[in-house]
Amino acid sequence: MCGIVGCKGNMDLRKYLINGLKDLDYRGYDSAGIAFILKEKINVYKFKGTVENLESKIPNHIDSDIGIGHTRWATHGVPNDTNAHPHLSFHQHFAIVHNGVIENYKDIKDELIQQGFEFKSETDSEAIVNLIEYYYLQNNDVLKSLFLIGQKLKGSFAIALLHESEPDKLYFYKQASPLLIGVSNDFNLLASDAAPMIKLTKKFIDLEDGQYGYLTSTNQFLFCNGRPIDIVYSNKEPELLVKDLNGYPHFMLKEIEEIDIVIKRIMNHYFYEDKFHFDSKLIEAINECDHVTFIACGTSYHASLIGARYFESLEKNTSVFIASEWAYYPKFLGNKTLYIMLSQSGETADSIRCMQMLSKLGAPILVVTNTKGSTMERNATYSLLLYAGLEVAVASTKAYSAMITTLALLCEACKNNIDVIDDLNNVCKSIRKIYFQKEQILQIARQIKNSPDVFFLGRGYDYEMSLEASLKLKEISYIHSEGVPGGELKHGPIALIDKNVPVIVFISDKIVALSMRGNIKEVESRGAKTFIISSRSLKHEGDAFVVDDTPIYLSPLLKSIFAFYLAYFVSLEKGLNVDKPRNLAKAVTVE
Ligand code: AGP
Ligand code: GLU
Repeated sequence: MCGIVGCKGNMDLRKYLINGLKDLDYRGYDSAGIAFILKEKINVYKFKGTVENLESKIPNHIDSDIGIGHTRWATHGVPNDTNAHPHLSFHQHFAIVHNGVIENYKDIKDELIQQGFEFKSETDSEAIVNLIEYYYLQNNDVLKSLFLIGQKLKGSFAIALLHESEPDKLYFYKQASPLLIGVSNDFNLLASDAAPMIKLTKKFIDLEDGQYGYLTSTNQFLFCNGRPIDIVYSNKEPELLVKDLNGYPHFMLKEIEEIDIVIKRIMNHYFYEDKFHFDSKLIEAINECDHVTFIACGTSYHASLIGARYFESLEKNTSVFIASEWAYYPKFLGNKTLYIMLSQSGETADSIRCMQMLSKLGAPILVVTNTKGSTMERNATYSLLLYAGLEVAVASTKAYSAMITTLALLCEACKNNIDVIDDLNNVCKSIRKIYFQKEQILQIARQIKNSPDVFFLGRGYDYEMSLEASLKLKEISYIHSEGVPGGELKHGPIALIDKNVPVIVFISDKIVALSMRGNIKEVESRGAKTFIISSRSLKHEGDAFVVDDTPIYLSPLLKSIFAFYLAYFVSLEKGLNVDKPRNLAKAVTVE
């Protein structure tokens, strides 16, 4: 999730920038850099790799009292030294660090190139600093230039900015990405959250979207829409800052609303310079195997069900097992089997047990995990990281989406089919639309929150996703729920349908749409309260929630956003602990 630090005033600049970036490293990153002003010149040090690597390459003493730092999660441009932040403007009057994604950066970059600007990096962030310089060269006013970029940029941008001719001012802008000011008598600080600052001050300014301005050693100046605004100070308790919520009420909501950026980040790691980048030995192992066996638990098992369908499109036989079952009743399906194990934590005991059994046989194992250096990752034959950033809520959301995204890219890479890139970009846009419609999902949550049982229906991908929807609801609202294939209802489960029993129905695939409408009639005739979640081209009047059309293989990425919000809101409405549900742990490291 990347990070920003900045400081101006009486303090050890080198120490704050480096330690501050280390305090933010739980957010995950791939590159790090700092910049500072010395004798009216901006000095920049930036490298792909860790903060420790950066620390080993910068001067041991920095005789400056104004600087910025950054840890990068690449979304535009591969992780390398050039794309790392800070970025200098073309005429080198400014240096910027940026967190977020600029959606219209390409147009801005093209316009600036027309004006004679040259770019060094592939990032969207460099377009911001050059746009600031472009405006500044016209109006000679940094504040006005910041106001103007706020009108021009589309997307999310938390930025810290140095102007070589104003070593007394540390500029900033906050829009849709987190940024916080730490206040003291003879220095002022910037950071993505309070973790780097809490040791140095307890006085903060929680910046709101659209706010910008500058810090001097002793003062803070805040603006919005071109006008100065009053400053409201707040204080933060240390324990809140272990992993900052960045203004969200719960980690689960924050993690649901990171999913679009997570998908973009995964795409950027596994597809760049117009081609896929996966370990060629892994691709070879996939091409040579004739059977793919998935083994996982919980949400990772549900993601495995989706992944198995992707491998079927590669003409592979596939099997999916629950780890705790396979561990006691193992099935070996031929010696040309590739084993794939999904695990957010990489520390799940049931899955590790299966890995140990497979490793003894020398079986090839691909581990797909969110946790670098985890037991499963370290013992895998091949591994793929999810780049989803820290997932704190016990109920897994962005990791599920990240697993599906990664497996989709891997399988399409085996076919060298780059259509998946446009498909995923469109899915991200459709996901963002759902973010703005979450109020409708809250209304549905209010209608089901007191039900003792809830059913989720679907066929194909929708059925497999309904199992995840059901698990989410169960684990954080404690309501009994199950996912049922639409056609299976009449073979038993329909006996449980009674007056007002809520039935959530997913309809994404036109080949089963009619049958699903029939299942809806079946349950409604027995008094069920149905909520139909349909794709736009299949929607009927009265459907409870409609999402954009997407190629069917990616429909779980979209419909699961609805399911995550539904579970979140039901738990909230019931006053339960959304992030830490009873009886559950984030990593189940015991069998
Ligand atoms: C998911 O919401 C649950 N927290 C749980 O089912 C989890 O997916 C399961 O324990 C597997 O964890 P892992 O992905 O870390 O292996
Ligand atoms: N989008 C910018 C980049 O790709 C910033 C990413 C971040 O938030 O670190 O460099």
